[in-house]
Amino acid sequence: MTDFGDAGPDGRGGLDGIPGPEGGAAGGFADAATEAALSAFPQAGDREVETALRPKKLGDFVGQPRVREQLELVLESARKRGVPPDHVLLSGPPGLGKTSLAMIVAAELGAAIRITSGPALERAGDLAAMLSNLAEGDVLFIDEIHRIARPAEEMLYLAMEDFRVDVVVGKGPGATSIPLEVAPFTLVGATTRSGALTGPLRDRFGFTGQMEFYTPGELGHVIERSAALLDITIDDAGRAEIAHRSRGTPRIANRLLRRVRDYAEVRADGQATLPVVRAALEVYDVDELGLDRLDREVLGALVRSFGGGPVGVSTLAVAVGEEPTTVEEVCEPYLVRAGMLARTPRGRIATAAAWEHLGLAPPSDAAGVDAGAPTLFD
Ligand SMILES: Nc1ncnc2c1ncn2[C@@H]1O[C@H](COP(=O)(O)OP(=O)(O)OP(=O)(O)O)[C@@H](O)[C@H]1O
Ligand SMILES: [Mg+2]
Repeated sequence: MTDFGDAGPDGRGGLDGIPGPEGGAAGGFADAATEAALSAFPQAGDREVETALRPKKLGDFVGQPRVREQLELVLESARKRGVPPDHVLLSGPPGLGKTSLAMIVAAELGAAIRITSGPALERAGDLAAMLSNLAEGDVLFIDEIHRIARPAEEMLYLAMEDFRVDVVVGKGPGATSIPLEVAPFTLVGATTRSGALTGPLRDRFGFTGQMEFYTPGELGHVIERSAALLDITIDDAGRAEIAHRSRGTPRIANRLLRRVRDYAEVRADGQATLPVVRAALEVYDVDELGLDRLDREVLGALVRSFGGGPVGVSTLAVAVGEEPTTVEEVCEPYLVRAGMLARTPRGRIATAAAWEHLGLAPPSDAAGVDAGAPTLFD
C-alpha cells in the first residue's frame, strides 16, 4: 500500500495567519506564499475558496474515470434496491478530491451528511454520540480515518457490520455493556495512508476508490471550471501551462490559478495569457515541471554535492537546511513520481532526468540514462 504522508508533517504548513498574496503588502508577493504555492496540503486561504469550488455532483467531478464509474454503479444499484449503499473508502494523496467526492456521494443519494475525522474520535464515546444521532440513510464521513483511536475503531466494526454498538458503562468488574441500535447508514472514509489502516477496518468497506493523480488535460478542465466560477479570464495556453505545473493535483491547480489571477490584476490588465501565466509562476518560484525552490535545492545538493548519490535522507536534509521529514514527505513523493529521484536501500539517487532538469549532463551510470523521460508529463 502506498503512503502519501499525513497532513501533519507538511514542513511548509503552519502558515495560518500569514496573509496570502491577497492580504500581502502592496504589490509584494509574500515569501511565505512562494513557499506554499506547491504544497498539496491545504494552506491558509484555501479553505473558503475550496468550498466554493467543490464540484457538487458526480457529473461536475472532473477526471478519476475509474473511481467515478465504480461509484456510479455502487450508488445506482443501492438506489434501485432501496437500501443504503455499501461503505465507501476513498484513498489517495492530499488534494485529489476525496472530501469533494464524499460530499457528492451524499448529494447523489439525497442524503444528509455528518462530518467528523479520525483525530476527533479519540474515545469510543465520541463515536457512539455521532452514531446515535444518525438517521436512516445518512452518510457519515470520517476524514483521515487512519487516525481513529483503537477503541473507537473497534466500535466502528460492529456499527458498520450490524448497525449496532455496545456502549460500555462503568469500569472494572461492575462495567456493563448496553447495546444500542444504529440506523442503517453509509460510512464514507477518506485516507491519505490506506497502508496505515488495519485489515479488519479495510475489509469492512464494500468499495474502495483509489484516487489517482490527474493528467494535465484533466487539470485543464478543473482550471476551466474554477476560472468560470471565480470569474477569471484565462486563455487555453495559460490554462495548459498551469495544468502542467500543478503536480497532478486539483488543489494546487486551483491555488496557482488564484496566484496567477492576483498577478494578472496587479501587473497585467487582468487577462491571464500565456506570458502572464509564465511571469506569475516565476514570481512564485514554480518551474516548468512544477518543482519549487526546495525541490530544486534537494536535487541540486544531490547532484552537485553528492555526485548524484546514493546519499542518506538526513544528510541530504542537512545539506539543504531542512528537517528530514520535510524532505521525505514534502519533496520526495513528487520528485520520485516525476522520475527524478529514486529511493534505494543505500540512499537517494538522482536519475538522468534530474541532471537534465538542472541543465547538467548526466554521468553515464546515472539511473534511467536510456530509460526515457518521466511518464507523468506525456
Ligand atoms: N475532480 C475534481 N474536479 C474539480 N475540482 C476538484 C476535483 N478534485 C478536487 N477538486 C478541487 O480541489 C480541492 C481539494 O479537493 P478535496 O478537498 O476534495 O481533496 P482531498 O482529497 O479531500 O484532500 P485532503 O487529503 O487534503 O483532505 C476542492 O476544493 C476542489 O475545488
Ligand atoms: Mg479532504
